[in-house]
Amino acid sequence: MKKENKVKNSIDISRAWWKEGVLYQIYPQSFKDSDGDGFGDFKGVIEKLDYLESLGITMVWMNPFFESPMVDNGYDVSDYRAIQPRYGSMEDFQNMLDGMHKRGIKLVLDVVVNHSSNEHDWFRQSRSSRDNPYRDYYHWWPAEKGEPPFRHSLFDPEGAWTYDEQTNAYYLHYFAAAQPDLNWENSKVRYEVYDIMKFWAEKGVDGFRMDAFQYASKDTNFPEWPKGHEKEYDKWYGMNPPLHGYLNEMYNEVISKYDIFAVAEGAGTTLQDAHDIVDRDRNELQMAYHFDYVGSDQLKLTDFKAIFTKWDTSFAEEGWLSIFLSNHDNSRLVNRFGNSSPEYRAVSAQMLNTFILSMRGTPYTYFGDELGMANIDMPSIEEYVDVCALGDYKRAVKEGKDLGEFMKNLNFYSRENSRTPMQWNDSKNAGFTTTTPWKKVNPDYKDINVAKQDKDPNSVLNHFRKMVKLRNENKVLVYGKYELLDKNNEDIYAYTRVLDGEKMLVLLNFTDHNSCITSPQIKQLADIQINNYNSLAINNHTITLKPYQAVIVLLN
Ligand code: GLC
Repeated sequence: MKKENKVKNSIDISRAWWKEGVLYQIYPQSFKDSDGDGFGDFKGVIEKLDYLESLGITMVWMNPFFESPMVDNGYDVSDYRAIQPRYGSMEDFQNMLDGMHKRGIKLVLDVVVNHSSNEHDWFRQSRSSRDNPYRDYYHWWPAEKGEPPFRHSLFDPEGAWTYDEQTNAYYLHYFAAAQPDLNWENSKVRYEVYDIMKFWAEKGVDGFRMDAFQYASKDTNFPEWPKGHEKEYDKWYGMNPPLHGYLNEMYNEVISKYDIFAVAEGAGTTLQDAHDIVDRDRNELQMAYHFDYVGSDQLKLTDFKAIFTKWDTSFAEEGWLSIFLSNHDNSRLVNRFGNSSPEYRAVSAQMLNTFILSMRGTPYTYFGDELGMANIDMPSIEEYVDVCALGDYKRAVKEGKDLGEFMKNLNFYSRENSRTPMQWNDSKNAGFTTTTPWKKVNPDYKDINVAKQDKDPNSVLNHFRKMVKLRNENKVLVYGKYELLDKNNEDIYAYTRVLDGEKMLVLLNFTDHNSCITSPQIKQLADIQINNYNSLAINNHTITLKPYQAVIVLLN
């Protein structure tokens, strides 16, 4: 049964292991290849279990590894109970899971059930005839009714309905045409999914990440929507009210029966939407990651701070969020929020990792960010394999966009950037594989790799380890009240975390120049807990931070 024991803190919060943990995300295809086929695999992860343990992380979220035609690298599942052969066997999976558990690391599975693959047996059956028992596992629009009302697809420039000759009907797919959306109104579909979740929970997995789940419920009357609606995608396509009933049912059927948690990808467009998913009395999901953070790289620091502060304030008493700045759908952390120049890449990565690991909410670190791995330069569309990037390109062509400008943006923002292989050492292919990797290794691997950073006490990697340890050992960094200081400061993000009389001050310089902050709190400085430089300039009530300096100090 679910263990969420209530303990009385100075702030009333219920404790849970998934709140206190530090999560590390593994993109399995790119982590470590053990058998020389160019793809990462389970045995590769097993080889690196000691490394995972050395990071101090306590949870791993692994992107989908189920049987799949791999149109969207596994986000198109053709059998939810089978392993995609390139990752290994079920036995390898179990060995990997056992190895993690032995080291106190929990595993979070990616559950991709807004849609399946078009090669899933359900869809094969569904498309075969209009009276097949699986017909209403998906959304169909009979062609004799005319063209279906426009729905935007996130990946397909032709829209979210695709015509299928076999039964003279259109099917719906919010992502690629190879990812037909499941019909959650059908209770058979829902109970299939709960069975799949139980199958994995019985194997011992500890959590679920619900992929694209805010889109699962649809208004199946398919009303005509006004032109241009798709610009506010999550508002129109996400959080249709019956979603809550489904989540509650999932909670009763699966989540409540095990010591597990589930996290939502996307949580609507308002604070209330997110609360409605994760507040305890809702009995739906336990954690959410919303998308406000993702786009915040374009903002002034004061606006960035305002976003994090707004979400923290709203979730101070009830509900729980994850804290992240990057993942497999975004380009690299250091390029977007830090500074990728040789001079500042390392310090800015350390600063950003300090931030993620010192905020309230479960910290999510994407593999490679603990090294400060950076974007790869891919100026030509021929090098791209990602279904989303290719769809965007076709859309740009169709809409007559300036392709030079488009490619410049794609090169910087494309999710291909974060999918390059892990950089383990400076040998050929960064020690990821002995053959040609499925995706080009970033040429900067000779300089940025685990082996090199392991040896350097001041590396991004060792800073990450120190920071994880600090969080693991100090509940104030998990549950402590967050208070923003000097909110108008455009260079420095400063805040305190307070719990049961313990107080920590976090100071982060987000710029490439010295900058100072003045605060009466500075008088109370006690011990420096972490610092990515070897000194801290204090003068009376003023602290001057060096470029991208990150410091956490215990206050008296
Ligand atoms: C989610 C995943 C993304 C995937 C999409 C379709 O947004 O994070 O990688 O392409 O869903 O499943």
